[in-house]
Amino acid sequence: MNLIRRPRRNRKSSAIRSMIEETHLGVKDFIFPMFLIEGTNKKIEIDSMPGIHRFSLDLLLNEIEECMKLGIHTFCLFPAIDEAKKNSMATEGWNEKGLYPQALAAVKQHFPEACLMTDVAMDPYSSDGHDGIVRNGIIVNDDTLEVLGKMALAQARAGADIIGPSDMMDGRVGYIRDMLDAEGYENVSIMSYTAKYASAFYGPFRDALDSAPKFGDKKTYQMNPANKTEAIIEAEMDYAEGADILMVKPAFSYLDVIQTLKENFPTPVSAYNVSGEYAMIKAAANNGWLDNNTARDEMLLSIKRAGADVILTYFAKEFALAHSNI
Ligand code: PBG
Repeated sequence: MNLIRRPRRNRKSSAIRSMIEETHLGVKDFIFPMFLIEGTNKKIEIDSMPGIHRFSLDLLLNEIEECMKLGIHTFCLFPAIDEAKKNSMATEGWNEKGLYPQALAAVKQHFPEACLMTDVAMDPYSSDGHDGIVRNGIIVNDDTLEVLGKMALAQARAGADIIGPSDMMDGRVGYIRDMLDAEGYENVSIMSYTAKYASAFYGPFRDALDSAPKFGDKKTYQMNPANKTEAIIEAEMDYAEGADILMVKPAFSYLDVIQTLKENFPTPVSAYNVSGEYAMIKAAANNGWLDNNTARDEMLLSIKRAGADVILTYFAKEFALAHSNI
């Protein structure tokens, strides 16, 4: 057959395939989310996230050290708070003597070169399990900002490098930016959860932290999975309010949103490869229905190809171990 163009020629050997590869994944692309619990010598696997654990601070430090040796330098910590310390105003969230700020400070003290991202939202500390203050069944916006600001400040004081507001209240990036700047933390970055969808794929994370909403759902603040144009409004606001990096969450079902933000905004874009996306691959692989490593790498590659400069992923450590020779 007379075919001038035969695309298969560029696929004929591993040497050619790797030479013309357009997207490259590496451990430097990743942020490793980790779960922190009270106590010592505790390492408890999360049932719905095989291979991922909740660590007490002492063992978390060991885990971070191992990851640093594998080339992972950025970590995002999430605290699991005792039910007894939760209340409607999430006051434990800005207690500077609390589990979270103390752990952040300890990590920075042991590993000053590690980059630490935090989570700003009320849900881990809230007796309502919501990201904002609840009044008469409504999640109130503006009063919540004060709580979020206090949390961000406590985290910055503890040494956080990047503040990650995951709450989806309107105006929170600007509010937090002002508060940080007023206190002399103008070098602390904000990675905003810009387009965060009301997703079923957060299920295993809520198991890990026992942070599921006590009533209702998060649809009055997290975005409708049907919408993409709205992600541009969110991104315009976060960009104008000073966000350094814009995040899309979840990642795998929202590749189009990642691409849209990447094409329309000059900041780096990150994507959160969430707990349910991790759990799906693990569950299928454990049943012998998918090959864990190739499915994992394909998922991560797709997220990067769509336009993510940074990927928060529970696969970070196993990817680093699997590819430690490159
Ligand atoms: C809460 C928060 C959630 C995640 C990160 N921060 C869950 C939620 O919004 O209910 C989900 C992460 C994951 O599923 O891996 N503010």
